[in-house]
Parts: sequence; C-alpha cells; structure tokens
Amino acid sequence: MAIRNIREIGEEVLTKKCKMVTEMTPRTRELIEDMLDTMYEANGVGLAAPQVGILKRIVVIDTTGEDPYIFINPRIVESSGEQVGQEACLSVPGKTGQVTRPNYVRVAALDVNMKEIQVEGTELLARAICHELDHLDGHLYVEKVEGPLKDAVAEDEEEE
Ligand code: NI
Repeated sequence: MAIRNIREIGEEVLTKKCKMVTEMTPRTRELIEDMLDTMYEANGVGLAAPQVGILKRIVVIDTTGEDPYIFINPRIVESSGEQVGQEACLSVPGKTGQVTRPNYVRVAALDVNMKEIQVEGTELLARAICHELDHLDGHLYVEKVEGPLKDAVAEDEEEE
C-alpha cells in the first residue's frame, strides 16, 4: 500500500497515449492497489494510471465509496443520451468546468484477473468512465470544457 504522486496538468505524461496491458504481473497488481489508495486518499471518484505517471491502460473508479471498479484495457462499446454537468480532475486541482457527456455507457474491459467484464453506468458513473478513459488517450476534461474553467473553491462559496 502506497500513495503515489499525482501528476498535474502541464506534465507531458498526461498527454500520451497509454499502452495495452498484456499480462497481469505482481508489479501491475501493486500499481492497481496504489492507484486505489491514491484515489481514496485524494477523495477522488476515479484515477487513471497516467495520473500517477504510468502509461498503461488501467483506470479505477468508485463513485459510491462502496466497491471500486478496476478496468484494464477498457473501451466504451455503447453510449447514449446526454448529460451536462460540472467535472473536475485530480490532475487539475482546484478547478471545475462544465462538460457534456453521454448519460449512459457500457464499458468492456478486463478485471484484475484479466477476465472480460462489461459494466453499465449512468449519470455520475457514466461521466467518470468517459473522463477516466480519456486520460488513457492523453486527454484532459479541460479540452472539452464549455465556457470558463472555474475555481472550484470560489464556486462552492457562491453556492453557500
Ligand atoms: Ni481526471
């Protein structure tokens, strides 16, 4: 168990396309455990491997705080609908912005045992899946923001 350093916008590793995972190794298992620890420590709902500097197609997502999804080599195989909402990213600290995403996605991936799985998500889970998968191709949500990128703290204060 270890907390890894979260890479931030401006670092080149966040702009690279990640490589497919071809086998599960002790080192990759350790990476996944560390990604979970790092995500929970940072109070995030998702984390992609390039955010800790590793160019592998692995993401972890937990939108409920109950049971994390671990997706290896994930791909969206179906999507529908539309949702407009605020998004944020651990690699873009203190910021938030509006992004339109599908309201439903079905993702196909491998689990930690390299078995094929499919997961359906709506609303926040669908948004998190889209956001994390974008990281694997070197994209940050700030490229998709509609309107200004806002200061997340200032926004909270405005709402109170
Ligand atoms: Ni992110």
